[in-house]
Amino acid sequence: MHAVAIVAAAGSGSRLGASVPKALVPLGGRPLVAWAVDALLAGGVGEVVVTVPPAERAAFAAALPDRVRLVDGGATRTASVRAGLAAAGSRADAVLVHDAARPLTPPDAVARVLAALAGGARAVVPVLPVVDTTVLVDDDGVVVEAVPRAALRRVQTPQGFDRATLVAAYAALDAAAELTDDAAVVRAAGVPVATVPGDERAAKITVPHDLALAELSVGLTGSEVHP
Ligand code: CTP
Ligand code: MG
Repeated sequence: MHAVAIVAAAGSGSRLGASVPKALVPLGGRPLVAWAVDALLAGGVGEVVVTVPPAERAAFAAALPDRVRLVDGGATRTASVRAGLAAAGSRADAVLVHDAARPLTPPDAVARVLAALAGGARAVVPVLPVVDTTVLVDDDGVVVEAVPRAALRRVQTPQGFDRATLVAAYAALDAAAELTDDAAVVRAAGVPVATVPGDERAAKITVPHDLALAELSVGLTGSEVHP
C-alpha cells in the first residue's frame, strides 16, 4: 500500500496567538510542522504534501525536508485539505490527513491507521474515550442533563482513507462547505468510518497551555528531540 499524507498547516493559530503561523511555532527548537511530518514518515507514509499559508512558503520550505511538497492552503481547513488532495496525485492508494498542530503524534498511532486501511477499511479515525463527566447545558449555561459517555469518543488525526473514496467525497461536497474533519466529509457521502485507538500524545496544540505541556513532554522524554 502506498500512502500519501496531507498535512493541514495553513492556519494562522489565532488562539495560540504567536507572531508566526502556528505550524511554524517552535517546540524543542523545531517547528510544529517538522515534528508532524517526521511522525508520518516514521509511521510508514511514503509521500507528504503540506498545505501552507501562501505568504509563508519560503519559511515552510526551509523548515521541511526537500521531499515534502508544499501547496497553498485555503481560507478554511476544509479548503486547505481540498487543495492538498488535488495536489496529491494518483500514485497513492491511501491518503492520511493530519494536523500540523499535533506534533507529538507517535509513529505507532500513524501505523495503526495505515494497518486498518490495509485491512480493508475505507475510512478510519483514531479515537480516545471521554474521561470527564459530560453534560448538556441550556442557553444560560445551566445543566440540563448528563450525557452517558460510554459511547462517546474524541477524534484525533491522522485520519485515513481509501484515496478514491476521499476524492469522491470531496468532489460531492458543496464547494463552500466547512467541516471540522475529513471523516465528516466521507460520512456525508455515506461511507462508514472505522476507529482505532488514538494516543494522548497526539493532542492538538490550540492554546498556549497546550504548547507549554508539549514543551514539558519533549523535555522529559529527551529521546523525542531530533538533532
Ligand atoms: N488549517 C489549515 N487551513 C486553514 C485553517 C486551519 O490547514 N485555513 C490547519 C491548521 O494549520 C492546523 C489544523 O488545520 O494544523 C487544525 O486547525 P486549528 O487547530 O484550528 O489551527 P488554526 O486554524 O491555525 O488555529 P486557530 O483556529 O486558533 O486560528
Ligand atoms: Mg482553526
